[in-house]
Amino acid sequence: MTEESAPDDGESGLTVVTDGSGDADDEGVVRRVRFSGGPARSFLSSLAADERIFQADLAVDRAHTVMLAEQGIIADDVAGEILTALDAIEVDGHGSLPDGEDVHEAIETAVIERVGADGGKMHTARSRNDEVAACIRYRLREDVLEALETTLALRESLVDVADTHRETTMPGYTHLQPAQPTTVAHWALAYEGAVRRDTERLLEAYARINESPLGGAAFAGTTFDIDRERTADLLGFDSVVENSMDASSSRDFLLETVQALSTHATTLSGLAEDVIIFANRSFVELSDDYSSTSSIMPQKKNPDTLELVRAVAGDAAGSVQGLTTTLKGLPRAYNRDLQRATTHAWETVDAVTEASEVAAGAVATADWNEETLAAEAGEGFSTATGVADLLAANGLPFRTAHELVAIAAENGADYDALEAASQEVLGDSLEAHVDPDAVEDALDPAESVASRDSQGGPAPKAVDAQLESAREALATDEDVLADTTDALETARDALRSEVNGYV
Ligand code: ARG
Repeated sequence: MTEESAPDDGESGLTVVTDGSGDADDEGVVRRVRFSGGPARSFLSSLAADERIFQADLAVDRAHTVMLAEQGIIADDVAGEILTALDAIEVDGHGSLPDGEDVHEAIETAVIERVGADGGKMHTARSRNDEVAACIRYRLREDVLEALETTLALRESLVDVADTHRETTMPGYTHLQPAQPTTVAHWALAYEGAVRRDTERLLEAYARINESPLGGAAFAGTTFDIDRERTADLLGFDSVVENSMDASSSRDFLLETVQALSTHATTLSGLAEDVIIFANRSFVELSDDYSSTSSIMPQKKNPDTLELVRAVAGDAAGSVQGLTTTLKGLPRAYNRDLQRATTHAWETVDAVTEASEVAAGAVATADWNEETLAAEAGEGFSTATGVADLLAANGLPFRTAHELVAIAAENGADYDALEAASQEVLGDSLEAHVDPDAVEDALDPAESVASRDSQGGPAPKAVDAQLESAREALATDEDVLADTTDALETARDALRSEVNGYV
């Protein structure tokens, strides 16, 4: 037996053990000892975690093989054998792969087991470095699309709540203290705006994920006459990452995605916290589907799902930190640290997508207690600003009006208190400055809301305009998402029909 190092990317530890006859095609004689690592074997291996990119790797292998054949780099019949083997490997599944350092090596070994040594031609003009980068991007696209879907569902829930509760007054808070009356619609659309920006950030991240690194090889390109645009096209990527070193070793697309997901998780955590507080004050009742009970206290109905939604922001922020720390100071080109960068993205996209979906469901099914909300809307003299605005609109300097109302706030917070404060601050009756009916209106939470009709304000009229832009933006993003999903589907079908031309 002799050991020959095969001309791979020089990094995979590929060793071909033959019987010395030089007949590498002789199956049963060729034995590939591909995975060393001794005691560190399992430490090195990403094979288990790579189940996530098993389908992606098959697609990348197929596109690369088709391109190699089209370019005349490998013969059509060899391409056909490799592609047939890949189909069989897909049917057998990730669990049936031979041992390997990762899914790329294991699939290649499985191809060689089926095809013979010619199966090794699949790895011509590429490296696992560009291969894994292509696989991550391929799979992450699908995951980010799912995350995007949940942001749209949440926006729809919020828009529906706003539509139903245009006139449901509620207390609005700053510093968690009653501040000014607002409406449930205005509150819901505040979160809709934030989630809309979360959608935009994820779409921007998606655009940069959707570029093909394939053909970058180890980092330094290849002597073979490859067609990178073609593999990009076959895999549904919009363009190629041009510089081959950048293609094979950059992971800023992961960081950007995890950051966008973390930002969304932070939005969700605020939403969850609000609803938890509102539930605590009986402003809203969560559906049983999104609540939990106590194992000992029979009367309890707890907002556990939203507490978990709130907690996911912590996990996501941790992933941003972990990923940033892994990438910080990594030299170009490929380093194995990158294997551990990827898992942060999978964990985050799964957790945030689930949290987003649950938040959408909890919001959509919650019951707002209109009576309690209306009764509480004026708590803590929350109409005070409106009264001060009214006095200012009637000619008083706003600062004087503010002082007058502040004194009234200390002494009963009603018309009589305002009258007493007027005597104290202005030296005459309130009536001399403003119509008493208008003051009574300003003291009424619903009237107070209705009067704040500036652009973006809570007055139902102003909310209608916000509802319209929310609906328009939602429809636009739904179209973008549908087109993006279709483009991937079309690329998948096109690759399949190209493959069918060989198998
Ligand atoms: N499993 C590896 C990863 O996730 C694949 C690339 C290995 N490349 C190498 N040169 N060892 O990054």
